[in-house]
Amino acid sequence: MGSLLGRSHGWDRLTVNRGAATVHPLATRSAMRILQSGGNAIDAAISASLVLGVVDGHNSGIGGGCLVLIRRSNGQILAIDGRETAGQAAHEGMFLRDGKADPKLSQDGPLACAVPSQIAAIKHMHTQAGRLPWRELFEDAHKAAFDGAPASKSIGRTIAAEADQLRKYPASKAIYFHADGTPIREGEPWVQKDLASTLQNIADHGAEWFYEGPFAKACADYLESIGGVLTRQDFLAYQPKERAAIRTKYRNYEVIGFPPPSSGGMHIAQMLMMLEPYPVGAWMRSRPDAYYHLLCEAMKRAFADRAHWLGDSDFVDVPQGLLAPEYSVDRMADFLDSRSTDGIEHGWPNGVLEREILSSEPSPGEDRKHTTHLTAADEEGNWVAMTCTVNTSWGCKVTVPGTGVMLNNQMDDFSIAPGTPNAFGLVGSESNAVAPGKRPLSSMSPTIVLDSTGQPVLTAGAAGGPRIINATLQVLLRVLDGGCSVAEALAAPRVHHQWRPDQLLFEDQTGIDSPWAITPETRQRLSAMGHPLKASGALAISQAIHRQGNRLAAAHDPRAQGASES
Ligand code: DON
Repeated sequence: MGSLLGRSHGWDRLTVNRGAATVHPLATRSAMRILQSGGNAIDAAISASLVLGVVDGHNSGIGGGCLVLIRRSNGQILAIDGRETAGQAAHEGMFLRDGKADPKLSQDGPLACAVPSQIAAIKHMHTQAGRLPWRELFEDAHKAAFDGAPASKSIGRTIAAEADQLRKYPASKAIYFHADGTPIREGEPWVQKDLASTLQNIADHGAEWFYEGPFAKACADYLESIGGVLTRQDFLAYQPKERAAIRTKYRNYEVIGFPPPSSGGMHIAQMLMMLEPYPVGAWMRSRPDAYYHLLCEAMKRAFADRAHWLGDSDFVDVPQGLLAPEYSVDRMADFLDSRSTDGIEHGWPNGVLEREILSSEPSPGEDRKHTTHLTAADEEGNWVAMTCTVNTSWGCKVTVPGTGVMLNNQMDDFSIAPGTPNAFGLVGSESNAVAPGKRPLSSMSPTIVLDSTGQPVLTAGAAGGPRIINATLQVLLRVLDGGCSVAEALAAPRVHHQWRPDQLLFEDQTGIDSPWAITPETRQRLSAMGHPLKASGALAISQAIHRQGNRLAAAHDPRAQGASES
């Protein structure tokens, strides 16, 4: 890791270096190249996200969306909601057949995609806070698509896993398979000429080419021909939104999270409030059973609330009271320190009857002019936490012919019918039902933590559906309470409970070396407390940056073949 000392702006005499972390070495390299050639962290994040869409397209891409949290060097916080949006023809019954929910329809094929939103979001990021010319931010992604890059292990694995669905769509078949029908494998050079040309067009002609011009037309026409419902009008209407970030105190820190349509910021804040009265750091080190028991109980309560109350706050009333410290006390009133609590249901935050609603509109006084999981920070004090997604691997598996763009399957993040679990086993209520123009509830949790002087000290976020929320929480706790370095925090094993199903997942045999391994003895104690334990592989993939004094340390999750530089 090389140190790159730079100027200090807005850092109160701190001289810090730069850093970036993503799940792919080419994307991290791109972010660092941009930082080294005069770009800021916003430019770096945009460029890295575009590269990821080429070399890591099963996870994210311009056919998907993103949520972006930015802390600018002047202290301003921007929460940019680049979430995909349901088309005007979408409706509550669209995934029902003969009165029964059919999750195949919300997961694969033309009905599963919502309006892609990453290009609109990065345009907004760039306009508000970027520095380098727009075109320059597309260079690395274009090169990776045009010249080709070796297919990564996860590209090879996910093409093979989704081969049957991908083969159904001729443009997907042409990109993800050789002419003889065999799938692209790990290590093979992989050229994506159509995607290169799409990127070039957006670089040359702007986001309008995507939303108002040839892409919107090609996409809407093709979807119509195969039974989809998105229209050119839906593309024209798409707007990213600036939201008011969720800002709460945790010990001596201020934690900044992403508001609805994500549930991440809300539930990380809620769980931190539930945990704050307890000696989290001491238990982590010397009483791991007590630590994991406490975590699990907070997770169950938060996810029960998520299932009932959370949805797109432009459509449903999300109670402000969920964030009240008294509510967390109330929620934990039945916590037993040596027994799993049974029968947890959602709570009733204060103010529900008075309809005190969380406002996700930035306040009028806020300056709106300036202004995978990947992360970048520059020497001026700009920090970016950005989570991009097409939802599950290769989204809806439909590639728009002639464009190389794979579309998302974000409609599955809606609750397609009460009680019907989505691809991540999440159930939801009317709050997250499908409606025209609505954004599906997300778990993406880009998070930035400020120290007591208001300077950024830590940022984290993750991929992994609902596991994002709990993984991000655990990374924060390992650093803030456990005193771990950010690399140790990412390597530490994780647990996950999402209320339904009633199951405490713990990471086992991930092959990652950590002094914090969850031992058989800890598991036995948790079982004895009544927790239904289940061994799991990797629980989420997280990237993070931590500042210690004037040094930034960027780290990528050892569960993926990522890269970090600082
Ligand atoms: O927004 C969400 O919560 C999901 N669409 C995220 C999907 C995800 O993290 C997939 N990763 N494994």
